[in-house]
Amino acid sequence: MPGQGWMSAKLGSRLGGRPRGRGLAAVLAVLAATATGSQAQQAFPTRPITIVVPAAAGGPTDTVARLIADPMGRRLGQQIVVENVGGAGGTIGVGRVAKAAGDGYTLLVWHIGQSTAPALYDNLRYDVFSDFDPIGRITDVPMTIVGKKSLAAKDIGELMAWLREKQDQVTYAHAGIGSAAHLCGLLLMSALNIKMNAVVYRGTGPAMNDLVGGQFDVMCDQTTGTANQIKAGTIKGFAATTKTRIPLLAELPTLEESGVRGFEVSAWHALWGPKGLSKDVVEKLTAALQAALQEAVVIERMAGLATVPVAQDLATPAALKAQLELEVAKWGAVIRAAGVKAN
Ligand code: MLT
Repeated sequence: MPGQGWMSAKLGSRLGGRPRGRGLAAVLAVLAATATGSQAQQAFPTRPITIVVPAAAGGPTDTVARLIADPMGRRLGQQIVVENVGGAGGTIGVGRVAKAAGDGYTLLVWHIGQSTAPALYDNLRYDVFSDFDPIGRITDVPMTIVGKKSLAAKDIGELMAWLREKQDQVTYAHAGIGSAAHLCGLLLMSALNIKMNAVVYRGTGPAMNDLVGGQFDVMCDQTTGTANQIKAGTIKGFAATTKTRIPLLAELPTLEESGVRGFEVSAWHALWGPKGLSKDVVEKLTAALQAALQEAVVIERMAGLATVPVAQDLATPAALKAQLELEVAKWGAVIRAAGVKAN
């Protein structure tokens, strides 16, 4: 390391000059501090790590965070605990991480919402770039339009006709302004030129329970939340929001092929820490993330939720930084054009 070379050259010249009493004490103090610092670096982590999920337990983000927490923890030799801090479209939990110490013990797993929040919120209490250190991307997740089982509509064509007819009598759920479900719902309303009635949850995990119970009509949610329910027949799957069909849910047409031209939205998840992580800590966390994403059980469980881990070269700080820059620009333009604001 350049810093260490500079330090040893400087110490060498001071030791060579036979420093007296106080000088020697100062040199020893620097040596001790340097040794303690590097031991601390080598030792990381020495206690459990918390991953903050800014949405309720049981939802798509929680699922992804819990999938990587255990294998990352095994690799790092420490337990990783997932803490759900939902509310305000994720901005409460993300804000908590922005203010946490940059020591690697508090991390964030969040999604596309990190790129939509700057345009949606005028008074965001953090900066998605300068308050966070990227660690790596985790996965890209398709989204689906789903509805309660008792809806009469048999396919997306019938559903769209019903949405156009009923408009604001239709209830649709999302996880707060800036959530993926909110973004997708907005895009759908704008594409169909309709207005539906929003029911807001702290995450789409609890929303899914209510959809299964038939307490609202429709939702646009990630396959990490919907795939199992669609397969089990507890809700109706109507369409995929991706450019091409989702192989695991191949029976669902895309919105594009159903006549909604240009409709494409999918979520993505990533791992950040608060600003100030040392290079050593970032490297250890990135290596642990990459190892987790290669574990057969993680790949298999993600496949069962219609998603895949990103390639190893995308599970890196540089790839996440680039992704966030692209997505902030992309969704910022869409949100400004739609004139939507959270406050
Ligand atoms: C969302 O729509 O943002 C998510 O589904 C949040 C969550 O993980 O619950």
